[in-house]
Amino acid sequence: MKVLVVGSGAREHALVDSLVKNADKVIVVPGNGGIEAASKLEYSGVVEVSDLDPREIKADLTIIGPEGPLASGLGDKLRADGRRVFGPNQDGAMLESSKAFMKEFLNELYIPTASYGIFDDLKSAKEFLKTLNGGYVIKTDGLAQGKGVFVTRNIDEAVEDIESKLSGTAFGDAGRKVVIEEMMEGKELSVLALCDGKKIAPLSSARDAKRVYDGDAGPNTGGMGSFSPVPDVDGKLLDSIVEKLIEPVLMGFKKRAIDYRGVLYAGIMLTEYGPKIVEYNVRFGDPEIQSILPRLDCDLVSLMDQCASGSLRSEPKFRNEFSVTVVMASKGYPQSSSYGDVIEGIENAKNLEGVKVFHAGTSINSAGQFITSGGRVLSVTALGSDLNRARLRAYEAVDKIGFDGEHHRHDIAL
Ligand code: AMP
Ligand code: GLY
Repeated sequence: MKVLVVGSGAREHALVDSLVKNADKVIVVPGNGGIEAASKLEYSGVVEVSDLDPREIKADLTIIGPEGPLASGLGDKLRADGRRVFGPNQDGAMLESSKAFMKEFLNELYIPTASYGIFDDLKSAKEFLKTLNGGYVIKTDGLAQGKGVFVTRNIDEAVEDIESKLSGTAFGDAGRKVVIEEMMEGKELSVLALCDGKKIAPLSSARDAKRVYDGDAGPNTGGMGSFSPVPDVDGKLLDSIVEKLIEPVLMGFKKRAIDYRGVLYAGIMLTEYGPKIVEYNVRFGDPEIQSILPRLDCDLVSLMDQCASGSLRSEPKFRNEFSVTVVMASKGYPQSSSYGDVIEGIENAKNLEGVKVFHAGTSINSAGQFITSGGRVLSVTALGSDLNRARLRAYEAVDKIGFDGEHHRHDIAL
């Protein structure tokens, strides 16, 4: 089968790394420096990188990785051309592209989530803050690359953040409407489920680290690391999450005539009152999927194709191993980014047993070296027979890689 993957992150690199096992051909648009280099080495003969418009590339199955193209209707366009697509249409993608839509959807289905209000004027937003219990969460309604959420216990900071969002200075139009939520407390969990429009099949559990610095300090990022499976989540808890927080979503889709084929990502807070939804995403979590996929022990091409064709019949299977992913970010991330720094040591890291280096913000310079191209640069993933072994291996690999201004968290899976 010929598979087309749209995207350029470490998520897409991890997808390609699993898809190559069962696909005849994988085309990646636009890909990144790491996928391009691997297409000439370990993926040679199977993987190609292209900068054509995805609509111009014929494929049996098209997988849309990031939320941006899903929200702007790439799935709809490809399906209108008769293509088989993994990834929802624009209507389903609204679960992620509008937090206000998502909260209303959750409310309608009685799915547990933080209490909230939706505002586009400062006066009513300030009134609502006074009704909350000392913890404030301010979110842009629209997409903001994981950076549009501000969590604080200081009401003045909350007001300042609302002002900067509503005025458009902080996030442009994405912030002109905000969702304000009560602060939930507990550990977070990501449960991703494959969906064929009528049925779901959950993947193994994962947890990511959203804040930029050790000990969950600093601003939110797209994700600085992850691990899978999550030891404090047993089968019973996972089953009840699927039953109460994920399966009801199918009813909501049915009611709105949304034919959702792709992955539904439930971001969950394990509160003292039980699991509650933080958010849904309409694509694979990054860096969660970098930890989940290397543990997959079945044919990913077939699973995704079954979803895309509305006939999901297999269950994903996972190896009984743990994996840990550490994200290496460029100088200044998440506030700013640095470009062009030469990256050393990737080969030495990749040579370690059980280690994979997935590229995100990399390109190749004229001397053939990998250089940074901003943001989250690399995801270093290691497998191990337990979480501690996987973590030690991941950090051993991270220590072999270096570039100017590189920073990462030291406490992933600790
Ligand atoms: P989101 O983009 O909605 O997933 O939010 C990003 C991160 O902000 C989450 O992973 C949580 O760490 C935090 N967060 C979001 N909503 C809440 C909430 N209501 N209470 C506490 N933390 C939250
Ligand atoms: N890791 C968080 C996300 O993908 O949104």
